[in-house]
Formats: sequence, structure tokens, C-alpha cells
Amino acid sequence: MKAIVLKKENTPPVYEDFKLDDKKDEVKVKLLASAINHRDLWIIKGMYAGIKYPIILGSDGLGLFEGKKVIINPGQNWGNDENVQSSKFKILGLPDHGTFAEFVYTPKQYLFPAPEHLTDFESAALPLGGLTAYRALFSKAKIKKNEKVLIAGIGGGVALFAMQFALAAGLEVYVSSSSDKKIKKAVDLGANGGINYTKKDWHRELKAISGGIDIIIDSAAGSGFSTYLKLINPGGRIVVYGGTRGNIQDLSPQILFWKQISILGSTMGSDRDFSDMLQFVNKHKIKPVLDSLYKLEDFNIAIKRMEEGKQFGKIVLKNVYT
Ligand SMILES: NC(=O)c1ccc[n+]([C@@H]2O[C@H](COP(=O)([O-])OP(=O)(O)OC[C@H]3O[C@@H](n4cnc5c(N)ncnc54)[C@H](OP(=O)(O)O)[C@@H]3O)[C@@H](O)[C@H]2O)c1
Repeated sequence: MKAIVLKKENTPPVYEDFKLDDKKDEVKVKLLASAINHRDLWIIKGMYAGIKYPIILGSDGLGLFEGKKVIINPGQNWGNDENVQSSKFKILGLPDHGTFAEFVYTPKQYLFPAPEHLTDFESAALPLGGLTAYRALFSKAKIKKNEKVLIAGIGGGVALFAMQFALAAGLEVYVSSSSDKKIKKAVDLGANGGINYTKKDWHRELKAISGGIDIIIDSAAGSGFSTYLKLINPGGRIVVYGGTRGNIQDLSPQILFWKQISILGSTMGSDRDFSDMLQFVNKHKIKPVLDSLYKLEDFNIAIKRMEEGKQFGKIVLKNVYT
């Protein structure tokens, strides 16, 4: 079969023939579409734990199994503790071969019917980002109707799911971005307002627009993170699910304890989070925001768009050409 195969650190993956070994305990899914996550980029750059070569990348996919359209929960072996994943937890696309291919093997329990209101490409975009956003908002921040949330870096795949879910749950939603165009697009999709985080003292402006923020959902961290402590209301919650901008710097313990702020780490989600997310998406007829569509063989062009931070929503791949 054809696949996108990563053979070496920091070299572009190659579109080529690859022989998948049969897995007796797992089912074989014929993939129609897949979607890129920042994780794929970290792995290519060698900035991810447990990398092995060769590996077929890809955590998100829409495929056919026994004549039905299915999506795959890429978060596998979570275990029994809702609070944290087990030591056996793994994500599809490393260590096991992933979805940027014609076929993928997965344990059957991780197959779910593709939402009927979504196209194949929208379904392919949903699993990893939808799961991460759902857990961050509902299981971690425990959002409540009418609260005010800031979704940082709104161009991101997970961030846009978080915005859509929070709006559907009845929250007031504000966004931040490095791009005024992306902020406008988010407002067009229903966000109450937004702010460019590259501006000096952006938090003061956002405070003035919003009247205060109760929850922040962030994947950047880095030197800008300390500003969140100034922005957030007393008793606020900050959920961190990524570290795109590196280590957090100059965090004031005084502001943290005096304002009784909670900083919560979040990773992917449990089996229950995934089922709940799917139910929520079906109930509210949420449609993933798609940025662009590429042929599987054009993967390296597609991921360059993510590397340059140009995307607004999910970058999707067409695994089968018709
Ligand atoms: N823990 C988990 O389970 C989990 C799951 C999924 C993703 N992640 C991590 O979360 C991050 C985002 O993943 P993704 O797939 O959504 O990636 P993505 O689509 O590439 O989004 C990255 C976004 O980060 C934003 N950003 C960059 N610098 C920022 C800053 N200084 N402040 C605020 N936002 C900033 C950008 O937003 P603008 O373009 O709008 O500026 C960009 O769109 C990655 O680091 C990924 O590894 C973790």
C-alpha cells in the first residue's frame, strides 16, 4: 500500500510503498481521509518522546470497516482512571503505524460511527483535536454556562474545536491570535471578540472588552504565559494542553496564590471523554473548521502550511483519489 513514511529525524517523510504486517488482534480499516496534527510535525522534527523509524505518521482518520464509515479514537490504552492515563497509553501514529496510508490496523473497540452530519473530510478532522478540546473544557476546566473563556491561538486545530464546543455549551467566548484575519474569522463563526496577542499589553484591552476572563485554554505556554495570571479573574482556571512556545517563564507565585488560580494540565482524553465528545458533536451538529485539503502524496506541502502557522482549522488529506 502507499503511505507517508518517516525514515529519519529532520528529513521529510516519503510517499512510498509500505508493507503493513498483519495484526491478528486488531482490525484493518481502509482509510479514505486523514488529518494533520501538530504532533506529526513534532515527530518529524525529532521533538517527541519514543520516536522509532520507519513509522507511518497520522493520528486522525476516516475509513471503511465492514462497509460502514468509521472514525478512530487515536488515544488508546487510557486505562481505568478518568483522572490520568495509564503507563500503557499510546497515540495512533507512533508507536503504531498511523493513518497517512491506505490502511491502518487498530483494536476494534476504538472504531466509532462517523457522525452523519459530517462529510468524510470533516469526520477525518475530528478525533484528536475534538477529544483534546473536549477534555480540556469539560473534564478539566469543568466549564459552566455563561462563564467567559479565552481560547488562545485560535488558528490551531484544537483551539477551534474548543471555541465551537464552548459556544455550544453557552459560554461567552473570546479568542487570541497572531493574526487579525484569524480573529475576524473566529468572530464570524460566533466568538464574542478577540485580541492580537502580539500587541503590547493585549491583556488590558481584552479585560476591557470582556469584563474579565474566568477560564483560559492554552497550547502555547512560553514567555507570554505569565500574562494570563494578570488577565484571569480571581478563582480562574487555566488549562494547558501544549507547549508550542516552550517553557513557562516568570510566573508570579504571589498572583497565583492570591488570586487562587488553578493551572491544569490536560492530555488527549479517556475513552469516556471520546464517547462524550462524539455525543456532544452529534447533538449540537458541530462541523470541524477545515483549512485546506491535499492529496496524501502532497503531505510535505500540507505540513509546511502548519509549520508556517498559516492554517485556520484542520489541514486534511485525501487518502483515496477518485
Ligand atoms: N496534550 C495533548 O493531548 C495535545 C493534543 C493536541 C495538541 N497538543 C499540542 O497543542 C499544540 C497545538 O496543537 P494543534 O494540533 O492544534 O496545532 P496547530 O493547529 O498547529 O496550532 C498551533 C497554534 O498555536 C498558536 N500559537 C502559536 N504561538 C502562540 C502564542 N504565543 N500564544 C498563543 N497561541 C499561539 C497559533 O495560533 P495563531 O495562528 O492563531 O496565532 C497556532 O495556530 C501543539 O503544541 C500540540 O503538540 C497537545
